[in-house]
Parts: sequence; structure tokens; C-alpha cells
Amino acid sequence: MHQSKILGTGHYVPPRVMTNDEIAKMVDTSHQWIVERTGIHQRRIADPKVDIPSEMAYKATLKALEAAKLQPNDIELILFSTTFPDMFFPNTATQLQLKLGITNNCGCLDMNAACTGFMYAFTLADGLIRAGMYKTILVVGAEMTSGFNNWKDRNTCILFGDGAGVAILGRTPAGEKSGVKSHVLSGDATKGEHLMLRGGGAAIPINAENVGTDVQCVVMDGKEVFKAAVKTMASHAEQLLAEGNTSMDQVDWFIPHQANLRIIEAVANRFNFPLERAVVNVDRYANTSSATIPIAMDEAIRDGRIQRGQTLMLTAFGAGMTSGGALLTY
Ligand code: ACO
Repeated sequence: MHQSKILGTGHYVPPRVMTNDEIAKMVDTSHQWIVERTGIHQRRIADPKVDIPSEMAYKATLKALEAAKLQPNDIELILFSTTFPDMFFPNTATQLQLKLGITNNCGCLDMNAACTGFMYAFTLADGLIRAGMYKTILVVGAEMTSGFNNWKDRNTCILFGDGAGVAILGRTPAGEKSGVKSHVLSGDATKGEHLMLRGGGAAIPINAENVGTDVQCVVMDGKEVFKAAVKTMASHAEQLLAEGNTSMDQVDWFIPHQANLRIIEAVANRFNFPLERAVVNVDRYANTSSATIPIAMDEAIRDGRIQRGQTLMLTAFGAGMTSGGALLTY
């Protein structure tokens, strides 16, 4: 059996910065309220004429290929997590294949587990490499949340941002320690109604009556999502540590889903884990859904915080309610 190793990472965020003060001109809120309740100071917003998910993923992947010293044709499979694909079909993974100029007909799969999507794709990639079926897999989280954000709803529009993060997974060379020690994936459909984007699919097609209404936007019960997120991420962290035979003080970096600083603090506090060893960028990018973990991981690798051989804990949660994580040696 092969272990998998993160060969290279990359991220891209669109250049347009939207501040809290700008949002306060659209809805009844303030910079102070948003910072106190979420830790968010600003977010990036994509120009859809330039930066749809496949394009953001393309820009992030070029950086990851360079870091991994690989060529586009080395990729054998693309697992593309997004909640807002370029289009229903062809899938966004194929659009990325096209942009990268891949000519080897590699496999292309879109995945949607909302904000947890990257962890589902990452876990699948790890399993396929362990099984010996693939040697090099591109795992993507790329999101244009501004496409479904309701700019009239102060409960939700303050929370989200756009961006992409990717990781290229390959086989761990013999004699190296890199690899996943434990992983967890879960779903709890009984809490599904707390966070939804209902329209546009088969259940509620967009028609003349409902076009422009909130069926086209995210609707959320923030308090319920908050409670479920803290509970699930904390219990998943416990499971990851137990199954990975690791204690929390052996974790060098905690890379949580970036939804709200208070959620990150609450989970870290349950383990007395110092916040300085949590990778946090929700202040700058807000919640980029399934892109938050690979963006945060890439930033911390590039600025030298994360070093080879260190132990990382990744945990995410999202609509569904889905949740997932991994404990690994980088
Ligand atoms: N500005 C000012 N006031 C606001 C705002 C705002 N932007 N939003 C809500 N309020 C008001 C509410 O209307 C409420 O007023 P009321 O008491 O008169 O009814 C008051 O502030 C308090 O609202 P709460 O819901 O109690 O505020 P809370 O402290 O729970 O914070 C928040 C709200 C930030 C949404 C929080 O619950 C949260 O972050 N939840 C998690 C959300 C999340 O992470 N979603 C993404 C999930 S991941 C995915 O898959 C997409």
C-alpha cells in the first residue's frame, strides 16, 4: 500500500477587495458588528467575466504545479470541489483540464459537499493513491460564493468571499514519513434545512415566478449552523486524534474551515490549543466555502509556517450538514 503526500499547493484570490464598510452601505450592519461576531474584516469578490471557478482554479493550479515541479500532463485525475460550478455540464473539472492544456485525457470529476467539499475530495484522492489506482491527483476547492450571495440579507451576505485553493497529491517516496494518519467524513441530513440554496435544480427550477427571489440565494439559520459546526468539528478532532494515535499537543498546525473566528476559537479552546498554531485568514478572505482549507494551507506553507514533517489537522463543516477532516504528516 502507498501513502499519499502533498506534492505542491497553490491558491488564488481575485484582486477586488470588498470591505465591511462597503457592505454597510448595502444592508443595515457595521464594520464593528461584523468583526465582533465573525472576525471578518474584508473578502475578495470575483469579476465573473474573468474569474469563474475554473479560472480561479487554473491560476491556483499553475502555482501548485510549479511548487511540485510537475507538468500539467502529469495529472492523472482532477477532483474539483465547488458549490457553484461554471455550468451544470460539462463539469468544471473538464474546463480546468482544458485551461491547463492537459492532453492525456485524465479523469475529471466535480464534487459538491458544500464547505466540506475539499476534505471529501482530498480523502478520496488519498484513498485512490493508497489503493495504487492513481499516482498524481489534483484536488481543487474553487468557489464563487458571490454568485449565490443575497446582498440584501445581512444575516448571510457579510460571511462569504471568493477564491480557489488546490493541492496535488502523489505517492510518498519509500523511506519518507508523509501521509494521512486518520480521516473522517460525515453527513447529518436532519440539520440540512439550516443552510440551503434551494433553487436552480430539479426540485425548484428557476422560472418567471421565482426568478430574483431568495430561492436563488443562500438562506441560513446562523445560530444552528454555529452550534453544529463547533460540536461536529470538536468531535471529529477527537476522532482524528484517537484514530491517528496522536495527542493535540503533537499537532503543529490546526487548519480549520474559515467560517467565523469565534467557531475556530471555540474548537481550539476545547483542546486548550493555542490560537497561534491555528491557521487563520477569515479576517482577509471571509468564508470561501470549500476553498478555505487549501487557501489557508498554501498561505502557511508559502510563508514558512508549515514545514515538512510537521503534523497538520484539517477539519471542515458545511451545508448538508456535511463535515470532514484529516490528520496528516506534511
Ligand atoms: N449586522 C447587524 N446585525 C445583524 C447582522 C448584521 N450583519 N446579522 C444579524 N444581525 C442581527 C440579528 O438580526 C439579530 O437581531 P435581533 O436580536 O434583533 O433578532 C442580532 O443581530 C443577533 O443575531 P444572532 O443570530 O444572535 O447573531 P450571532 O452572534 O449568532 O451571529 C452569525 C450571527 C455571525 C451569522 C453567526 O451565527 C455565525 O457565524 N453562524 C455560522 C454561520 C456560518 O458559518 N455559515 C456558513 C456555514 S459553512 C457553509 O457550508 C456555507
